[in-house]
Amino acid sequence: MRRETLKVLGPLALTLIAAACAPNATQDSLRPAGPYAEKAHDLFVPVFWVAAAIFFVVEGLLVFFVWKYRHRKGREGIPPQVHGNTRLEIAWTILPALILAGVAVPTVTTIFDLAREPEGDVLNVDVLGHQWWWEFAYPQEGIVTANELHIPTGRPVYLRLCAVGLGYQQQVAPSECQPGPPEGAVPASLGDSVIHSFWVPELAGTQDVIPGRTNTMVLQADDPGTYTGQCKEFCGLSHAFMKFTVVAHTPEDFDAWVAGQRAPAAMPPGGTPAAAGAEILAGQCIACHAINGLQDANGDPILGSNNGPDLTHFASRECFAGCMLETNDENLRRWLDDPPSVKAGSWMPDYNLTPEQIDQLVAYLNTLR
Ligand code: CUA
Repeated sequence: MRRETLKVLGPLALTLIAAACAPNATQDSLRPAGPYAEKAHDLFVPVFWVAAAIFFVVEGLLVFFVWKYRHRKGREGIPPQVHGNTRLEIAWTILPALILAGVAVPTVTTIFDLAREPEGDVLNVDVLGHQWWWEFAYPQEGIVTANELHIPTGRPVYLRLCAVGLGYQQQVAPSECQPGPPEGAVPASLGDSVIHSFWVPELAGTQDVIPGRTNTMVLQADDPGTYTGQCKEFCGLSHAFMKFTVVAHTPEDFDAWVAGQRAPAAMPPGGTPAAAGAEILAGQCIACHAINGLQDANGDPILGSNNGPDLTHFASRECFAGCMLETNDENLRRWLDDPPSVKAGSWMPDYNLTPEQIDQLVAYLNTLR
């Protein structure tokens, strides 16, 4: 092998091997954790072995003939030239066609199986892809969250997925996938939305999330736990930071979580830093964020918008900013100080907040459990 080739291939191979050895490797589609991921896995394994067998037969024959008819002393000149062998040609046309037809049967069956809308006790969730975070809306439960999809174990979750841009949704309109921009939305705003792709390798295959279109998919987890997912389609500057987690609870724990998410946020007692934070939020942040429970001095609700993540239970989430950052005070301060410097292209602008204002906002956000 040429030295230059080694210089390129060596580090590449090392990177691959090192990546496979990551101690906490999650996102492993070879370890399905639910029936829908299992179905895809059950298709992958036999198809993989068929492909592997073909690879070894074809490559084996190739290497064998290269070796057998290699140039040797005494074999000078051009070898006898052969051309055309009807039997061979028919064989190597029909055989691959038969193999492909054989593989197509379980493939097509599985595709239709996975695309079917589940029946019975199903949890419906709308998945809205934003630049660069995920919104999860539960129409029956009347709750909405960001970057953390909570599901009960042992129950199919039917997802409707759509991509939305800034201003696509009306102020405080319910977050849901709609066939087109809702009435009253600025039509041009659909231009902000781009294609994403939703992927939780341990729970299901992938599904594209497309502006102006609603796709569906089903996932289900057998056991409680946290499964990590991410956007799998390049969608702009911070595509790599468009991550999320799926938290699977026992059905009882899931009901408790829903009850907690339904409760409005309590206003902090007056005169505290948190109260000052609530005031800043009510003044500046509601152009993009909503908090159920946020009130003005008269106790009237302050309506926000759902362009950005709903913050009603912000502190109950373990990560924010598309799960790029773990939820803690230090990260929050960094983020509030200048979001685009933390996350390239962030639609949340730098509001030039003072350190004191940032502390007050952090204090308030920490009350939103
Ligand atoms: Cu969204 Cu990549």
